[in-house]
Amino acid sequence: MHSDLRGLSQTAASAAAMDAFDATVEAFMAYERQTGDRLKETFALDPTMPMALCLKGCFLLLFSKQALVPRAAKTLADARAAAAERGITGREARHLDGLELWLEGDLQAAAAVWAGIAIDHPHDIVALRMAEYLHFYLGDAPGMRNSIARALYAWNDTVPGYTYVLGMKAFALEECGDYAAAESAGRAAIERNPANIWAAHAVAHVMEMQDRPEEGIAWIGGLEQHWDGCHNFTYHAHWHRCLFRLELGDTDGVLRDYDEKVRADQSDEFLDVINAVALLWRLEQRGIDVGGRWGELSEKCIELSTNHRMIFGDMHYIMALAAGDDGAAIDAALAGLEDFAEGRGSEEAAARAAGLPLARAAVAHRQGRFADAIAALMPHRAALFMLGGSRAQRDLFEQLLIDAAMKAEEKALALALLSERALQRPGNPWNRRMTEAAAALP
Ligand SMILES: [Fe+2]
Repeated sequence: MHSDLRGLSQTAASAAAMDAFDATVEAFMAYERQTGDRLKETFALDPTMPMALCLKGCFLLLFSKQALVPRAAKTLADARAAAAERGITGREARHLDGLELWLEGDLQAAAAVWAGIAIDHPHDIVALRMAEYLHFYLGDAPGMRNSIARALYAWNDTVPGYTYVLGMKAFALEECGDYAAAESAGRAAIERNPANIWAAHAVAHVMEMQDRPEEGIAWIGGLEQHWDGCHNFTYHAHWHRCLFRLELGDTDGVLRDYDEKVRADQSDEFLDVINAVALLWRLEQRGIDVGGRWGELSEKCIELSTNHRMIFGDMHYIMALAAGDDGAAIDAALAGLEDFAEGRGSEEAAARAAGLPLARAAVAHRQGRFADAIAALMPHRAALFMLGGSRAQRDLFEQLLIDAAMKAEEKALALALLSERALQRPGNPWNRRMTEAAAALP
């Protein structure tokens, strides 16, 4: 038995293996490209470390790809076998339970397990991170905030990794609309570690929601020099800068950043695809020609839309298919989503409550059937939060509905939706322009 960096007892073959695991967790929290390599180094020193196997299973599921699920299941089985042979702590056993529930598609129960671990072990930063991640994709912002808030009493500058806890606190507060406290926590995290991209991102979200685009561009520009070691999450930070540029009308800058940063890899990775779809859709909705940029995305989304690991991703995959205008692919994706929505997991419930209505609305919108888009989405708007993702990301779905109301010349509805959005974002230039245009409708 060894102790991790923060004093938690953990099963490890040696002090060196324990150090390697700590380094893996540090890389994970810092969104480092080398995270996988750190994990391999841990396995080189302890091939059956239960917590390392658990983390590997989580990393595999974080890709949100069905094809990786069997590998994650095998990893969990290996961890269970190692636990039986070596014996593990109750805390470690609960981590394995969390992974098992996530594998089975019960994100709600998995989030509760990890949040529960953090109650008994507030220094368990992996449990805090996993609870944050799952609450986020469950659309449970208060749950995300509360799980981190409950641990804060145990954290200060004497505990290694405090910057990451401040970053999680910042993001959770932002998603709950507590912008001033969020920004202050985010800036405090950055003071301690300017490379803390999650904290930088949390502050960017505050600037997005408060419509401070010039500050947002300067904020990201002032920190990106520290992100060389970060993995593809940097593309999401660049995506935020694109939103700021878009608000300022810098279309050329957005398209340049799209090509050179946001979509530089043209990967089929979950978040990369979401970023790209959400940006192209916003651009086109503003009447901006995006050229042939949908092509590779729509193509990748044919395969991706069969995944159904994260409903938030599915929404974007179907939007890309709708933009690609391949009728057979769209029909197949909608049928696949309908089948998925029959299931019993938490993502299936979100698919029923909001996913299917939104998918149908997006397809109708794209096909110019704006009244159908409104009819599909309006009754289910209140459930959109269940799709997960951030408020800035889900704003795309609200914008889609407002755009449909405008194009269907539903003046009263357009004005009402814009009025509702203005309460959240009083200084938003797009909202102002659209409100003027809506008022001018016949
Ligand atoms: Fe974001």
